[in-house]
Amino acid sequence: MPDTIDERDIADAAPAPGRPTAERVQGIFTLIAGRYDLFNILSSFGIDRSWRRAAVRAANLKTTSRVLDLCAGTGDLSLALARQGRPAEVVGTDFVPEMLAVAEHKARGSSGRTKVSFSVADAQDLPFPDASFDVATVAFGVRNLPDRAANFAEVFRVLKPGGRYVILEFSRPPFAPWRWFYHLYLRAVIPAIGGLLTRDRASFVYLNDSIRSFPAQGALAAELRAAGFTAISWEDRTGGIVAIHVAVK
Ligand SMILES: C[S@@+](CC[C@H](N)C(=O)[O-])C[C@H]1O[C@@H](n2cnc3c(N)ncnc32)[C@H](O)[C@@H]1O
Repeated sequence: MPDTIDERDIADAAPAPGRPTAERVQGIFTLIAGRYDLFNILSSFGIDRSWRRAAVRAANLKTTSRVLDLCAGTGDLSLALARQGRPAEVVGTDFVPEMLAVAEHKARGSSGRTKVSFSVADAQDLPFPDASFDVATVAFGVRNLPDRAANFAEVFRVLKPGGRYVILEFSRPPFAPWRWFYHLYLRAVIPAIGGLLTRDRASFVYLNDSIRSFPAQGALAAELRAAGFTAISWEDRTGGIVAIHVAVK
């Protein structure tokens, strides 16, 4: 993994701020794979772990559940699902092999009743049969998909009837002063920490823009409804900095 990237390389290829393209997202996560976990801890003060624990609770797993974790990255949600939820199986997928290599390394030491595996797959074009999972999850991944509707259609297809899709994602704090502070933090602090760790400040400016342009809680619920999901609900965490949506097939 190169240590540096010329910010102009990203700027030249750059679509609108915050707008994901597969090439842009793959480039960013290939570059930051080795320092992604450290960035998460520093930028969220470790609160991200409690968000993932809440997502596992929302998944409502059974010991027989087969779980698909999309955009699994370095595996934090996949491993939390296995350790905390203890289902039969967790399949973690991502389209950046460098991120999954970190996940596989972290999974190596853990033993438990849950079978955990990782494989390369595009969240918009899943290589799994219809109705093959009880639960699908995604943490901080949906925001990076150029075509959310394609992802929702694919998840709907691979879920069994009654299956749940749990989405943990940055969202819009409803309380205006908190939202103002949060946006200031995103704009000022996140690129600074990210730039320091990876010398790739531009990627973190993009990540911030992608958070700010992502639909708010109700709008995301409407998109899930349009994709055919029912019983859609969400809970805000940390004053709405993130939201956990649950949608049922
Ligand atoms: C911010 S990371 C989240 C990783 C992990 N879920 C977590 O909670 O830390 C986003 C991940 O989504 C992956 N990703 C983005 N677009 C994808 C796509 N179309 N298909 C599969 N993975 C994708 C990236 O490679 C990256 O690893």
